[in-house]
Amino acid sequence: MEAASCCRSLGDGGIGGRGVARKAISLGKPILSITRVTKRFGGLVALSDLSLDVYEGEAVGLMGPNGAGKTTLISVVSGQYKPDRGRVAFEGRDIGGLPPHKVRRLGIARTYQIPQPFGHLTALQNTAVAAMYGRGLGKAVAMAEAERILDIVDLPGKRDVPAGNLEALTLKRLELARALASNPRLLLIDEVAAGLTEPEIPRFLDILKQVRSMGVTYIMIEHVLKVMLEAVERVMVIDGGSKIAEGTPHEVMQDEKVIRAYLG
Ligand SMILES: Nc1ncnc2c1ncn2[C@@H]1O[C@H](COP(=O)(O)OP(=O)(O)O)[C@@H](O)[C@H]1O
Ligand SMILES: [Mg+2]
Repeated sequence: MEAASCCRSLGDGGIGGRGVARKAISLGKPILSITRVTKRFGGLVALSDLSLDVYEGEAVGLMGPNGAGKTTLISVVSGQYKPDRGRVAFEGRDIGGLPPHKVRRLGIARTYQIPQPFGHLTALQNTAVAAMYGRGLGKAVAMAEAERILDIVDLPGKRDVPAGNLEALTLKRLELARALASNPRLLLIDEVAAGLTEPEIPRFLDILKQVRSMGVTYIMIEHVLKVMLEAVERVMVIDGGSKIAEGTPHEVMQDEKVIRAYLG
């Protein structure tokens, strides 16, 4: 499928060639505004005074060593954690502290680092349940919607397999399908490509491209460099809960602070 008109003029040039897009076109207003957010777990400061604006249609990468606070940031946006300080606004509305189901109904979906489907339900049923709860759809419509989404994530052959019997990589795709089932405008992707083999990467990038062409903005945590280079146009690197760099994937990877953070 062609990229959406928002991204078409970005061309295939630049870093990565087949990249989803290099730059957001009309930045306009941020769809998500994270302003000076702090999140503590007891004495541990997982996020410290962190700010990030994401614009509609953008794809933003989140990097940082293990324990940097990446998943915590996503969890603060998706409502799993309430920020101790700071503001989280989605489409101009304050969502900091709203419970996850309300955040989801507003148009934000997330995937989990460790997929969390219902093991006894099939891939199709899992996706349909996500459509029913995430969007309030009736069962029949949700099932039809689930079929459409399993096509997008390239899982139609596994639709009738119980999630408990799916192998790890297929589960990651199902995780993406379940997030898409709530028809989000903002998708938070937590290491869903982790563990992909070299030949699987281009196919995964195509899926992301299609997600993007549906008008979905996303923030993606990812360690696979190749995926990051081709799937996002801007990266924020955090370490110890603070932002240490921001820029294009190439820029941040040449940043001395980033290299130091990764090498320890
Ligand atoms: N629910 C929690 N309770 C206590 N500490 C947590 C919790 N979640 C995360 N942390 C801690 O917060 C820090 C950031 O974790 P996390 O956001 O998962 O990092 P990352 O995703 O970048 O690897 C780590 O030190 C982690 O141990
Ligand atoms: Mg994590």
